[in-house]
Amino acid sequence: MEHLSLGPLTVLLLFLGSTVTACTGFAGVHDHFLPVTGTLATENQIPLNDAGYGVSDLGHGAYMITDGAYQTFVLVSTEGVVVVDAPPTTGHKIQWAIGNITSSPVRWFIYSHSHSDHAGGAYLFANQSSPKVTTISHENTASQLAAAKDPHRPVPCKTFKDRHKLVAGNQTLELFFPGIGHDLGNIVIYAPKQKILMMVDQIYAGWVPFWNLAASVYVPGWIQAHDLILSYDFDTYLGGHMGGPANRTAVEVQREYVHDLLDNCADALVKSGNPKYPTVDIATISKEVLANNPYNIWAQFAVYLDAVADLCYNATSAKWLGKLAAQDVFGFSHARTMVSSLRLDYDILGPNDVQS
Ligand SMILES: *[C@@H]1O[C@H](CO)[C@@H](O)[C@H](O)[C@H]1NC(C)=O
Ligand SMILES: *[C@@H]1O[C@H](CO)[C@@H](O)[C@H](O)[C@H]1NC(C)=O
Ligand SMILES: *[C@@H]1O[C@H](CO)[C@@H](O)[C@H](O)[C@H]1NC(C)=O
Ligand SMILES: *[C@@H]1O[C@H](CO)[C@@H](O)[C@H](O)[C@H]1NC(C)=O
Ligand SMILES: *[C@@H]1O[C@H](CO)[C@@H](O)[C@H](O)[C@H]1NC(C)=O
Ligand SMILES: [Zn+2]
Repeated sequence: MEHLSLGPLTVLLLFLGSTVTACTGFAGVHDHFLPVTGTLATENQIPLNDAGYGVSDLGHGAYMITDGAYQTFVLVSTEGVVVVDAPPTTGHKIQWAIGNITSSPVRWFIYSHSHSDHAGGAYLFANQSSPKVTTISHENTASQLAAAKDPHRPVPCKTFKDRHKLVAGNQTLELFFPGIGHDLGNIVIYAPKQKILMMVDQIYAGWVPFWNLAASVYVPGWIQAHDLILSYDFDTYLGGHMGGPANRTAVEVQREYVHDLLDNCADALVKSGNPKYPTVDIATISKEVLANNPYNIWAQFAVYLDAVADLCYNATSAKWLGKLAAQDVFGFSHARTMVSSLRLDYDILGPNDVQS
């Protein structure tokens, strides 16, 4: 009897015990995020083979190679192969995939931008034993790579300032630098015959962008690039990440998300000067924080800025949670980054504007 009557309690304690175990440590704190299933993210996945990569045939000699997380763009021409980006995680799989597509050698290597997560396998294509490979990037990317002195990312031999047209046998690629945004030299790579546009770390089809608005060095430039992309005549979009090739719809959807975020964060900054909104009101927050932390101006500012970001995150989630994947994972970081950019780049300072 005693054993039986204790049964449910034992089960409950075991259940609580396992929950506590799962919640200890850093990873455990955010153990459970909303499912990706059911969001726009699941629409364009492509299967991987046993070797861990997938190839999408985009027509007329154009291919996209992925390991599921990163993308490489390949163009087969009558004079050899053009490769755009070599993420280190895909590494040798890119060589296998190309070897299975064509027996032509790689003759051109293009850096979309400097970041090592997309370029750290460049040396597999551009190295001292491959002098026939022409390496190309924007001049800012070349400066960054020269400063980095990274043997995995050799400095390109050809650079350009505004635009460059690469004619490779029967294929054409138009390279264009729209200005600083995600990186100092992130470029548009456009294949006019195939109507394919690649711009890396810009659009994350079906997902919210990567952490802190794609870790962009200049947020206004990164936001502006959405409109630039949509001014091109393209059917297929490659963003360097997240599954298979995307389309115009994915670009339009992310543009809407980013503009909602901008509007919501600007609104939160305005509300933060109004005691009618005590969860963000700067006077209310400062008074409370300074009472507990005398003279600590950074403390009251940190709490205030995160409260503004939180109000913006709440408003943005109301529309986008469950629609774009991982709004609950990176959405707050986006609100924080947007609040900072609005204050510093857009002069939307809320209660810290010119005092009357
Ligand atoms: C874009 O692709 C998505 C699937 O990823 C599809 O639902 C949508 O209809 C496509 N849009 C266009 C304009 O083809
Ligand atoms: C260019 O040539 C390659 C290799 O012969 C071929 O696969 C591709 O379809 C051609 N592309 C165009 C646009 O003619
Ligand atoms: C083709 O791909 C397989 C792995 O899928 C790889 O083992 C093989 O080396 C590749 N062939 C060439 C010629 O690269
Ligand atoms: C150098 O590049 C060639 C292709 O041009 C490649 O076959 C070779 O594996 C690369 N060497 C190294 C050490 O990665
Ligand atoms: C955001 O929403 C949560 C949950 O409803 C709420 O507790 C929090 O106060 C809101 N944030 C702000 C700054 O109003
Ligand atoms: Zn990047």
